[in-house]
Amino acid sequence: MHARFHMVHAVTPLVCAILLVAAGCTQTADKKGTTGKAGASKTAKAEAGANGAEAADAEPASYTDGITVPEGKVLLGSPELTAGIPGDGDLTVEQIKAWVDDPKNHETLDIALPLGLDAGLQAVKGLDANPLTRAKIELGRQLYFDTRLSSDGTISCASCHDPEQGYAAHTQFGVGVRDQMGGRNSPVSYNRIQSALQFWDGRAASLEEQAKGPIANPIEMANTHEQAVATVKGIEGYPMQFDKVFGDDSVNIDNIAKAIASFERAIVTGPSPFDFNEKLRGFAGQDLEELKKDDPDLYKEYEALKALADAHPMSESAKRGREIFFTDKGSCTACHVGPNLADELYHNLGVGMDATEPDLGRYNETKQEKDKGAFKTPTVRNVALSAPYMHNGAHKTLEEVVEWYDKGGHPNPTLDAKIKKLNLTAQDKQDLVAFMHATTGAFPKVERGRLPK
Ligand code: HEC
Ligand code: HEC
Repeated sequence: MHARFHMVHAVTPLVCAILLVAAGCTQTADKKGTTGKAGASKTAKAEAGANGAEAADAEPASYTDGITVPEGKVLLGSPELTAGIPGDGDLTVEQIKAWVDDPKNHETLDIALPLGLDAGLQAVKGLDANPLTRAKIELGRQLYFDTRLSSDGTISCASCHDPEQGYAAHTQFGVGVRDQMGGRNSPVSYNRIQSALQFWDGRAASLEEQAKGPIANPIEMANTHEQAVATVKGIEGYPMQFDKVFGDDSVNIDNIAKAIASFERAIVTGPSPFDFNEKLRGFAGQDLEELKKDDPDLYKEYEALKALADAHPMSESAKRGREIFFTDKGSCTACHVGPNLADELYHNLGVGMDATEPDLGRYNETKQEKDKGAFKTPTVRNVALSAPYMHNGAHKTLEEVVEWYDKGGHPNPTLDAKIKKLNLTAQDKQDLVAFMHATTGAFPKVERGRLPK
């Protein structure tokens, strides 16, 4: 677990529901094959195959699919933001210098979000306090993958939030230096731009505050902030970037955290079969012949969307699962709601509550009785990629998670009122799992190497 920050903060719920039709923003983009998720999608395919989700054979979508980026805006997920400083082989001081000397890399980015998350553009967090620039995102990328931030040079943020493991880790608990383990599962580090409070219990007020925790946490990166700062200062390619991004003599822990947080905000996941299908639902019941005559532009958008949905289909099973997820039958959207399918609130499902000394989660921060055993709702976007599940990593598969909900969680005094026995059939359960697989979308292309020497 990361170092604790004892404070209580007001929660800003993400009230935005999934938009059915956002008129005027669907169009087929022609850029393809720029995503960097080959490994990830392979895992998804293997798992989806096991669930009979036939959508698995389709080509992965691109983060640009289904969206038109307004003039002057930059689409988060664009490879040039996270693919590293241009060039091959080792990153040289000359390349870094050319990069930071280009004023374009220091312009504040006016962002757009990929289809799906775009409905939450108003709900993005943290950009006023820490504006995004290309240079800051790139600096954060380097720090995120740099094991030299840890005490023994073995662990980086990516060790537990690995792009190849769905930005989490396939171990029950996070594994830090000298194989030390905490008591919580590594959550995903993508789509954080739509989230204010961080950690399973929300104890960090921002991504900036969060990023400082693991560096000094004795069982994670086990460093001190002073030592981490000294190390970064001592690597020639780093101070020259900090000076241009944050001002002279600016290598300090706050700026390290700001850079890392900016990189994390740039990790947004792209559209999935679910998103194309969801948008298409907005046209259901429309007389298409009439639309063609009355509003040819909108009709064109419909056609482009239809082509995308056909190219990235949701299986019939996943479509049935979507109904269960969104209706009283499963009531999943009572909590997994909004563009990132997470309400950013805390709920007790009874996970781990049968332990003799259960992890009390949110209660540790608020000391309010009702928060005992409550944890922050995680996103279910791309969740097929980041097993095991729950704050304690107790569930190995999505099937196990669905069984947990079906039986109504584990009874305890503060069980969330929305958690009830569901009485799902075997088919319903399969369908729910297939639906979750259909939320697997494109990932940005991210360079892991090319760090300053
Ligand atoms: C040893 C494994 C490990 C390392 C290294 C690590 N983390 Fe984590 N991370 C975790 C675990 C476990 C949690 C959940 C802890 C909790 O909630 O108490 C977490 C939580 C988070 C969260 C909160 C996500 C959410 O949904 O609330 C973010 C963001 C994050 N880490 C980013 C980072 C960054 C940035 C670094 C590097 C500076 C980093 N982590 C290093 C294991 C790790
Ligand atoms: C009352 C709110 C609530 C409802 C309703 C709900 N969830 Fe959750 N979900 C959560 C919370 C909170 C967690 C984390 C709990 C924990 O770790 O203790 C979670 C965890 C998960 C996870 C694990 C994600 C991960 O990264 O570990 C999946 C998958 C999931 N839910 C799917 C579903 C499905 C499917 C349904 C509907 C059958 C559903 N949820 C209904 C709040 C809810």
